[in-house]
Amino acid sequence: MKKLLRIIPIFLTVILISGTPEKDFSLEKSNNNLIQNLMAQMSLDEKIGQMTMMCISSISANGDKTLFIHPDSALKAIVKYNVGSFISGFGTMAEWKDFVTKLQKMAVTQSRHKIPLLIGIDHVHGANYIKEGTILPHNLNLSCSFDTSLVRKCAALTADETLEAGIRWNLAPVLDLGKNAYWPRLYETFGEDPFVCAAFGAAYVSGIQTDSKGMPSGIAACGKHFIGYSDPKSGWDRTLAEIPDQLMYELFVPPFREAINRGISSIMLNSGEVNGVPVHASLELVNDLLKGYLNFKGIVVSDIKDIQKIVSMHRFAVDEKEATLLAINAGLDISMACNSYDFIRYIKELVQEGKISEQRINMSVEKILRFKSSLGLFNDPYPAKNTNWNTETENHRTIALLAAENSIVLLKNDGILPLNNKANIAVTGIAANSKLHLTGGWTFDWNGAPEERQPKDMVTILDALKQEFKQANIYEVSSSQGEHESVKLLNEADVIILTAGEKPYSEFKGNINDLALDEAQDKWIKKVLSLGKPVILTLIEGRPRLITSYAEKASAVVFAGLPGMKGAEALSGILSGRVNPSGHLSFSYPLAAGHVAPYYQKFSDTPTVLYPFGYGLSYTQFGSSEIQLSDSIFRSSTDTINANIKISNIGSREGKDAVLWYISYPNGKITRPQKILRQFSKVELKPGETGLLTFKIIPEQHFSYPDKTGKIILQRGNYKLFCENHSVNLYFP
Ligand code: BGC
Repeated sequence: MKKLLRIIPIFLTVILISGTPEKDFSLEKSNNNLIQNLMAQMSLDEKIGQMTMMCISSISANGDKTLFIHPDSALKAIVKYNVGSFISGFGTMAEWKDFVTKLQKMAVTQSRHKIPLLIGIDHVHGANYIKEGTILPHNLNLSCSFDTSLVRKCAALTADETLEAGIRWNLAPVLDLGKNAYWPRLYETFGEDPFVCAAFGAAYVSGIQTDSKGMPSGIAACGKHFIGYSDPKSGWDRTLAEIPDQLMYELFVPPFREAINRGISSIMLNSGEVNGVPVHASLELVNDLLKGYLNFKGIVVSDIKDIQKIVSMHRFAVDEKEATLLAINAGLDISMACNSYDFIRYIKELVQEGKISEQRINMSVEKILRFKSSLGLFNDPYPAKNTNWNTETENHRTIALLAAENSIVLLKNDGILPLNNKANIAVTGIAANSKLHLTGGWTFDWNGAPEERQPKDMVTILDALKQEFKQANIYEVSSSQGEHESVKLLNEADVIILTAGEKPYSEFKGNINDLALDEAQDKWIKKVLSLGKPVILTLIEGRPRLITSYAEKASAVVFAGLPGMKGAEALSGILSGRVNPSGHLSFSYPLAAGHVAPYYQKFSDTPTVLYPFGYGLSYTQFGSSEIQLSDSIFRSSTDTINANIKISNIGSREGKDAVLWYISYPNGKITRPQKILRQFSKVELKPGETGLLTFKIIPEQHFSYPDKTGKIILQRGNYKLFCENHSVNLYFP
């Protein structure tokens, strides 16, 4: 009998909300009288101190990131130099609470105006600098879920754990466009597509600034790194980027614009240089683009020691004093000076010499005080007491698991997956029995922590497989067991799970010359593949390292990325079939090192990829109808045409699909991408179920693009709309 299809309307989960911030973080919302009184009473030194951020290592008894205060150094910073903010420490929740309490107490009892401190942290994938913190998948993974509600939950739990420690400022999310596969910070981005980055970035901002249970005591997000950081010509961190203005507006601006529309309260600048000018010294990018064009009213903070780098790295200013002047003129409010008080000295001299006006200083300081006030710091600068925060831990770990499960992408499956529970399974490769490869950089330390400092309530892939496949024989094989023994053990297996990829790194520590894997791994992978056994190639990596020749021989390929503390459990759930994979690539997986391009390249440069952007397999199958349009000709730029598509689960198990809508443009005088994503959503369907998805297309919103001055262009002519394997024509006369 023919199965009756149930049709259910699916509401698109991603509709970008522009214009209204979800929480009013506007700096005007703070305590006006208090701010005015302070501004009237503060000396120039006290004001400059508020513009200075020091690293916790500069006041720590151990001279590192540990949270034990060296009282004299702390008093020097807070009382002598009037420092207003600190960053970057690591410790247990109890140590953080104690540290924040003591430091705030020092500020509100010993400084002349009792101004509380801002304490910032790089919690870029969960509360990664708190020992008991939840370690989430990195952003590149999260974006592969194509589910913004998930990233919002992840951000909210990060905010909760961060606030619990008494920290009110999270230096996240990274809003850089991950279009350069070589760049060592790719895994911190939400992938290569500007629309996806904007949607995920905005959801993250809402998760941090709006959804935290700790509200109304506020916590702020910080979008970074404005702008053009992620596409250095050489692929190496902090090396020069050359970005034509038109592409800057079209590709790099949208994630920042969307975050600003969501009310993000602070933005960090890019350490690198764009088109020959260090961003920290760029009037054009900071003053004109960020504060002017994008109308950003919040705090502009430097990246670490970046005023110094204007001299030492970019050789743009003759000395640090000139660099300070350039940065202040560009629009900097807070300098992450880290371990030097020179910024304070130079800025004071510049004011005394009349090169910087006091009015300019007042502008930044007033903003900083309002920022502190809007975060509730003047009311209560201390961490919450007597909370039972660890009752939430289980819930947070569950979200981490869900995030990992949804972020893993099945790239190839010749039918070997899901795996038979009774098999002999050999596990090998770099991440077979380690936690640190799964959590990656920015985990308890800048470049990731050694195995012994990884979370206790985390398992390795080997252990997770043993838990998952109770009736199978699971064992590890390592290349260090000696060729003869290891090959013998591998030959005894019915299937081999071969892990390959990268060990943890952050920033320039992850610079590479080549996308190919290192020699040792290459040799081992080739050896394993040569045995003629079914191999499941499992990629644990922060960027797409080349696997073309391996993928061809493997029975299955899984991109697990950097899936966090629950990564091993998520992966084994997918391998066993308990979890149906639903991740889709948020980046193009390169075929070769020589030609690496995102999917939205121009017509003249057809991308060559191993797996395209948006690709991802499931254990069920999805079918789709033709695209149905409510009309095909727009009457005006604000007219709406509904495009409908039906997605059906035609397989035998429940699954999720990412549905992506692209458009292509008529010919015009600014060359256009081959196609560009304009909408996406994730649908979950039971076998036999059909979902109806609607994309409401409005020319003004979905067809327009900026020229090289940022002016919006709306071309007339024929457009094409693509979804799944279908396309239809649309006409905007
Ligand atoms: C990174 C920033 C980070 C800062 C403070 C810098 O090296 O570029 O993303 O927020 O360090 O840790």
